[in-house]
Amino acid sequence: NPEHSFIVLANRLPVDRCEDTWQAAPGGLVSALAPMVRAERGAWLGWTGGFDETIPPFEFDQMSLVPVPLTEAEHRTYYEGFSNGVLWPLYHDLIVTPQYHRTWWRAYEAINSRFAQAAVRSAAFGATIWVHDYHLQLVPHMIRLLRPDVRIGFFNHIPFPPVELFGQLPWRREVVEGLLGADVIGFQRNSDAENFRAAVRKFAVDADAPPPLIEAFPISIDTEAIRQAADSEAVARTATQIRRDLGDPDILMLGIDRLDYTKGIPHRLRAFDELLDDDLLSPQTTNFLQVAVPSREGIAAYQDLRDEVERLVGRINGRFATLGRGIVQYSHHSYSFEDTVALYLAADVLVVSSLRDGMNLVAKEFVTARRNRGGALVLSEFAGAADELEQATIVNPHDISGLKTGMHQAASLDTVQARERIAAMAATVEDHDVHHWAQRFLTALQPSAPLGPAMG
Ligand code: G6P
Repeated sequence: NPEHSFIVLANRLPVDRCEDTWQAAPGGLVSALAPMVRAERGAWLGWTGGFDETIPPFEFDQMSLVPVPLTEAEHRTYYEGFSNGVLWPLYHDLIVTPQYHRTWWRAYEAINSRFAQAAVRSAAFGATIWVHDYHLQLVPHMIRLLRPDVRIGFFNHIPFPPVELFGQLPWRREVVEGLLGADVIGFQRNSDAENFRAAVRKFAVDADAPPPLIEAFPISIDTEAIRQAADSEAVARTATQIRRDLGDPDILMLGIDRLDYTKGIPHRLRAFDELLDDDLLSPQTTNFLQVAVPSREGIAAYQDLRDEVERLVGRINGRFATLGRGIVQYSHHSYSFEDTVALYLAADVLVVSSLRDGMNLVAKEFVTARRNRGGALVLSEFAGAADELEQATIVNPHDISGLKTGMHQAASLDTVQARERIAAMAATVEDHDVHHWAQRFLTALQPSAPLGPAMG
C-alpha cells in the first residue's frame, strides 16, 4: 500500500464509470483538487458508485484512486438513509422530515470508520488529509485517534443548521466531536461557521482540546473552463439552436438543478404560472426551460418531488400552451458540460430559487459564461452565493409575490444595467475562483498557519 503525503476523502471518487472504463466526473471540486492531487502524487479515496464490488486502487489521470466499497445494504443505510434521509434534510432547514433510525446511524459510523482506516493506511508520516462533506463527519476524529502526526482539514459543502434544529439529532455530540478532530473546519457561509461554533459550545464535551480553526471558505467554480466553453463556436452554435428550436422567444427563463427538494423548483414554476395568468409575461413570447438532473431516485421524498414538478409542468402547459407552442420545456436528464454552458448562453434569465443551498455553483457559472453578454440572475437569499453575488435580483422563494416581482423585474431589466450587473458579478467570481478557494483552505491547514479567532 503506497503512502501519500496529500489525500482527499470524499463520498464519491472523481470519476464516473463509462462502460468498461472511467472518465473524469464533471464539476469544480474535481477540477480544483485534481491538479493538487497530481502535483503531490496524492490519492483520492471514495466510493465508485457501484455495489458489492472490490476494485483495487488504480491510477487515473496521474492520480491514485482508492475505491472504498459499499454493499447494497450499506448504500441504503449509510448513503440513502443516514446521509441523505437524515443529515441532508436536517442541514437544509427540515424541508422534509428526517427519520432518526438507529440502524442508519450504526451504518454511518461503520462506513466513516472504513474511510478513516483507508486514509490512515494511505497516509505518509505528516500527511495532509482533506475530508469532504456531510457523509464523512466522524472521520476527522477517527483519524486523529490513530494518527496524531497528520494534518486534517474538513470542508462541509452544504449548510450547517442553527443549533435549535441541529439539536434534534440524537447523535449531535458524536457529530460535533467527530468534526473537532480536524485542524481546520471550513464552511460555505459565515452563518454556517457561526452555527457550528454554537453547536460546539452547546454539545461538545471535551472543552480542553485545542480548538481548530472554524471559518467560512466559500467554494467556487473553474472560471477558466467556463469561459473557454462559453467562447467556443460550437457552444455558441448550440445556444443559437436551442433558442431557434423554441421559436426564438423574447424571454427565455432557465432553471437548472439536481431534482432536489432544496432547490425550490415548484416555487418558481408557481410564480411563473401566476406571471402568465396576470398577463405580466406573454405565453406567445416567453418560455421556461427547466432542466432537472436525476438525483437520489431511491428516496421517497425525491420521487414525490418529481411527481409534483411534473404535475406543475403539465398544468402550466395545459393552461397556456397552444398547438405547436409549448411554454415550459422540462427535461429530466443530465447534460454535458458544453451543453450546460450553451443553456446559460441561450437563456435571458436564470432562476435560482433554492429554499436552502450551501452555495449554488450554477449561479456562479451562469454569470461567468455571460460575463460580457448581459442577462439576469434571480437568486434566493437562502443560497450561499447570495453573500457574494450582490448585483443579482435577490428573492425569498417562500414569498411567491416577491418571487414573481423578482422574476418579472429580471425579465424586464434594461440591457445596459443587465450588462453592468452581470459583469460585476462575473468579476467577483473571477477573483475568487475554485483554485483560490482550495489554496486558501490548504494555506490555513499548513502547520505554520496562525490559528485564527477559532472559537470566536
Ligand atoms: C451535493 C453534495 C455533494 C454530492 C452532490 C450530488 O452537492 O454536497 O457531496 O456529491 O450533492 O449528490 P450525490 O448524492 O449524487 O452524490
